[in-house]
Amino acid sequence: MGSKTYNKVGFAVLGSGNIGRRHINCIKEADGAELVAICDIVPEVATKMAEENGVAAYTDLDEMLKRDDIHVVNICTPSGLHTDAIIRCASAGKHVITEKPLDITVERVDRAINACKEAGVKLACIFQNRLTPTNMMIKKFIDKGGLGRLLIGTANVLWYRTQEYYDAGGWRGTWAMDGGGSLMNQSIHTIDLLQWFMGPVESVIGYTGILSHEIETEDTGIGIVKFKNGAVGTILGTTCAYPGVATAVQLFGGNGSIISDNNKLKVWKMRRESKEAENEEEEKMLKAYGSLKAESGSADPSSITKAGHLIQIEDMVKVVKEGTEPIITGEDGRYSVEIIQAIYESARTGKEVKLPL
Ligand SMILES: NC(=O)c1ccc[n+]([C@@H]2O[C@H](COP(=O)([O-])OP(=O)(O)OC[C@H]3O[C@@H](n4cnc5c(N)ncnc54)[C@H](O)[C@@H]3O)[C@@H](O)[C@H]2O)c1
Repeated sequence: MGSKTYNKVGFAVLGSGNIGRRHINCIKEADGAELVAICDIVPEVATKMAEENGVAAYTDLDEMLKRDDIHVVNICTPSGLHTDAIIRCASAGKHVITEKPLDITVERVDRAINACKEAGVKLACIFQNRLTPTNMMIKKFIDKGGLGRLLIGTANVLWYRTQEYYDAGGWRGTWAMDGGGSLMNQSIHTIDLLQWFMGPVESVIGYTGILSHEIETEDTGIGIVKFKNGAVGTILGTTCAYPGVATAVQLFGGNGSIISDNNKLKVWKMRRESKEAENEEEEKMLKAYGSLKAESGSADPSSITKAGHLIQIEDMVKVVKEGTEPIITGEDGRYSVEIIQAIYESARTGKEVKLPL
């Protein structure tokens, strides 16, 4: 990072649609980051977004990658295009932060992870819901053994998307580009949280259906899950629940129950003699979490909070400057894709599917 011109870490955004715009805004807000270029395959989109943000416009990724002031590329194209772009960025020596899902199959995810390893660049995957204060506290609590032996975990994503949502862009709800429907696109955040809290999955039984949209992939998916630690669970993800009702993770252990509803702590009941927090840190956290606002994209995709994206982009500045590992790595991005792929396989074959795939 020696150059005086580039004390800041240079970012470029690939794909300037719904979520690409969020990346652009977060890069501009992030400490130590500088937006230097925007690439979109649609020339008018690239030009408009670049002009609005005072940076260079590209329609060709490889052209953009020739710039030596780009250190990180934020990949915000349709999901089925992520690995191809990741490999090209890695070959050009750029670090990558890619939107969820990292790609739509574990085979592709593995290729992306390996390409970054071989090129010696870092790969981060966006899972902004891990970074809400509620979810970070739950993770810390469970990892310290607070919930005791884990027994049951459920992930419910009862969302709503219109037919127009699927029709816009032409890639949503297709196997080739979305890689799935309500599970691979919308529920993946909550499935990621479930496995993050509960631990690795041993096997799944899946069912999927197209209940109220004209799309190729499922708009409703269900998984029955066995975790490696002996716990069991369920996953339900739909985009048919008008008007978009809830996203919940429910966790039950030997010591009690935790429910995170729209990433807000709804239930926290532990078997304790005292109802007091165990220590000062926990007391502070519980007080803070009691007043958290719900963070939800249950009906409106653009309402998803940008705080997590900002944290991950600022983390990428640190990754580039200090050589640390991203807070959410490519490997982290693999778990949820594997679980969802296993649910699809089970739904197709009618059989229980064991992991790893
Ligand atoms: N983290 C989240 O909460 C969140 C929310 C929404 C979307 N996403 C993810 O972000 C990705 C994009 O979703 P979106 O809703 O922004 O889609 P979108 O259709 O709104 O935007 C995609 C953009 O990529 C451009 N594009 C397509 N192919 C390209 C190519 N080869 N090179 C350059 N640009 C190309 C399109 O022209 C479009 O502008 C998906 O993987 C999706 O799963 C994540």
